[in-house]
Amino acid sequence: MLSEGSSLIVSPTNANLDRAAAALARGELVGLPTETVYGLAANATDPLAVEKIFTAKGRPTYNPLIVHVAGVDAIAQVINLPDGDRRAVQLSQLSAFWPGPLTVVGPRTAAIPDVVTAGRDTVAVRIPNHPVALELLRRCPFPVAAPSANVSNYISPTRAEHVRDGLGSAVAMILDGGDCEWGIESTIVALGVPSVQLLRPGAVTVEQLAARLGISITVPTPANSQRDLLPRAPGMLPSHYAPTTPLRLSEDVPFAPAESIGSRDKTPAWGRIAFAPISAQESAQYRIVEVLSECGDLDEVARELFSALRRLDSLGLDLIVIDVCAETGIGRAIMDRIRRAARQKPG
Ligand code: TXA
Ligand code: MG
Repeated sequence: MLSEGSSLIVSPTNANLDRAAAALARGELVGLPTETVYGLAANATDPLAVEKIFTAKGRPTYNPLIVHVAGVDAIAQVINLPDGDRRAVQLSQLSAFWPGPLTVVGPRTAAIPDVVTAGRDTVAVRIPNHPVALELLRRCPFPVAAPSANVSNYISPTRAEHVRDGLGSAVAMILDGGDCEWGIESTIVALGVPSVQLLRPGAVTVEQLAARLGISITVPTPANSQRDLLPRAPGMLPSHYAPTTPLRLSEDVPFAPAESIGSRDKTPAWGRIAFAPISAQESAQYRIVEVLSECGDLDEVARELFSALRRLDSLGLDLIVIDVCAETGIGRAIMDRIRRAARQKPG
């Protein structure tokens, strides 16, 4: 039985939501469920509170944070655009996706301190679509800064226990919102003339942005992405979301593990993350196989991806082999995360 007071993970009752809002107002950090991943929340207008986020995560101070608000009325507290600015039209078109997994980068207001934006004149903002996040934000008379609630460069958290495991000692409490609906971080776009630019693919797809709104989207190609993205989204470093265990894409593993070790009589310590069921013969070559979706549904794959990576990463395997998928729709976001996770860490 859990003794009261010792439990960091709390259910989102009215009383606990009030406690969480009070903790934020006092400058403390709170673990916050959203529909994408869990966030590590602080009062965005309190520089000392925001600094605690960077310290807790071990996050470089040049990597700016996303600000969260409860409704479109509050966007004006964060993004500053004069009427008539073409980007104001883009912003109002994009607000059709709110609340939801879309983050918009635009010119910041004076209310947002330098520490949030890493000194930039732009700020990232979104309205999350999770009842607990919205309830908490409505209780806060200030915008809330929240990066994903993982230790910097580790896998983003998709359930309350993941936040506790990595950052439990840094938070006043973690509001339990269950498993995240999307399981992958928000899409990030930057307002701009002539067009909106994609900075991070996510649950809102490029196809949805372009088709539903008639907004033209500049999508970085692999060739220009490093050059273009680094100055704009400094958090988009090549190695990100990475498990400790080496990760390889199935397309880069030309042979099965059993063949590779020939004379050894036991299955090598390889794990496999499959997007759909694989044959018994193929499965037999791995010590463990995680099938993310019985029917290869990519929304389900996105939802299960980070937890499966965490699970396999905790098993002391020598290698994790992971499936690939077509880079359209949500597949673009899935492959973005997987490629970063598979990138060799420097040194
Ligand atoms: O789904 C999400 O977006 C989650 C939940 C908690 O809302 N948050 C999240 O935050 O993924 P984080 O810090 O892990 O990723 C934020 C990204 C970083 O890559 C950062 O560089 C970028 O947003 N970013 C923030 N402000 C920016 C700005 N002014 N210009 C360009 N990129 C920015
Ligand atoms: Mg993150």
